[in-house]
Amino acid sequence: MSRIVPLVFLSMLAYGCGSPAGETETEGSTTGTTTGGETAGPEGGQAVYEQPVEGGNTFACATCHAITEPSADGFRRPGHPIGDATRRPHYKKSQLTDMREAVNTCLQEWMLADPWTAEDSRWTSLYAWLDGQTGVEAAPPVDFDIVQPPADMSGGDANNGNVLFNQSCAVCHGLDAIGTQQAPGLAGLGLDLDYIGLRVRTSGLPDSPTYEGLTGGRMPFWSAQRLSDDELRDIAAWIANSEAPSTTGDPTDTDTGDSDTTTTGGDCGMTHPMIGWTAELEKKLHNVGGTAEIVDDCTIVISNFTYDGAGIDVRIYGGIDGNYHNGFAMTEDLLKPGGYEGVTLTATVPDGQTLDDLNGISVWCVDVGVDFGSGMFSP
Ligand code: HEC
Ligand code: HEC
Repeated sequence: MSRIVPLVFLSMLAYGCGSPAGETETEGSTTGTTTGGETAGPEGGQAVYEQPVEGGNTFACATCHAITEPSADGFRRPGHPIGDATRRPHYKKSQLTDMREAVNTCLQEWMLADPWTAEDSRWTSLYAWLDGQTGVEAAPPVDFDIVQPPADMSGGDANNGNVLFNQSCAVCHGLDAIGTQQAPGLAGLGLDLDYIGLRVRTSGLPDSPTYEGLTGGRMPFWSAQRLSDDELRDIAAWIANSEAPSTTGDPTDTDTGDSDTTTTGGDCGMTHPMIGWTAELEKKLHNVGGTAEIVDDCTIVISNFTYDGAGIDVRIYGGIDGNYHNGFAMTEDLLKPGGYEGVTLTATVPDGQTLDDLNGISVWCVDVGVDFGSGMFSP
């Protein structure tokens, strides 16, 4: 099943995630995350940049590299922008002159995926698309130095650190470190300043053939060029003193990364008459299934949740009488290579909504407004 996932991603980008054709959408795809010889156009390259790769983890190139800076979404990422990368004389501190080999180290070391051959259509379409992002003839090489954290990590400004965190780390850890599918939550863990410094400066494969001095972890190191020691101290001061997130709040802050464990609703009330009601998710598309139960005034826990994870911007929605067009999101984007098979997922009624605003639940494709599977609550 996982083999067809990337095709589904791409066809979804091309045709919208909710075409009623559903699981047979792959037929329409002409773009290439297959390893076949067919070269996709530059638009296919953008999808390669934005999506995780088959067989790898949840990271995409776009997780770690903007095209230019300041980036379109305002985030600073751990790697340098790659919009002019096709015009650089060499890569990875002059270790490599072939850009594909540089990209392959990212695929293998950061994305835990297989390297691409020169003929791989993912590579050729990505290259074509990136090459169209710059007007310069020649771009300077980028420099990055892997450094130790400062010996004294104290003295940071936590308020400034919160702002910096939300600019630089939130792309993976979520706003205010609440956690996402890319990375765990960090808020309220009481992490030690020196430990934070070490993780940020030296995370990555300890036996990396490309980088020296890394100490383990899937998170990419932040080089001296990408984050200053002062910024690191501020960020660490904020993380070390941060409070555990509450489960209510902005739906985009909801942690679905932790979907293998049951969480309870936390600090909202137990007053609503619908507590204890359940709904069966009836499959329409993308192998959706599961049983949703209202556990408190703001929390719905879905057990035995299945979904192939392949739609673009698909979220758990609440709505009235099957009308999810006027509904609201209760989780983040559920995009996940490999999908969900029998996991427990927590959905949170966002601020400004209550259980009075829903009597059904849907796995909802937000972009085009299509129901992948839904159910109505009953006692
Ligand atoms: C988890 C983070 C991560 C992911 C995902 C990732 N990279 Fe990187 N990449 C890095 C880091 C860190 C460097 C080190 C150099 C730097 O600061 O850019 C790097 C370096 C590079 C370089 C060499 C830059 C230079 O000129 O030395 C290129 C090119 C590159 N990445 C392209 C890609 C592409 C294309 C993808 C997607 C297929 C990708 N990367 C995915 C983290 C990542
Ligand atoms: C490309 C995604 C990504 C970015 C960007 C990122 N992280 Fe991480 N981070 C991870 C992942 C994945 C883990 C968990 C696995 C690991 O420890 O490597 C992690 C783990 C950590 C940990 C260790 C947590 C623990 O409980 O042991 C700390 C501390 C941390 N990150 C801080 C930061 C800070 C600070 C920033 C911004 C400067 C940042 N991260 C940016 C992906 C990321």
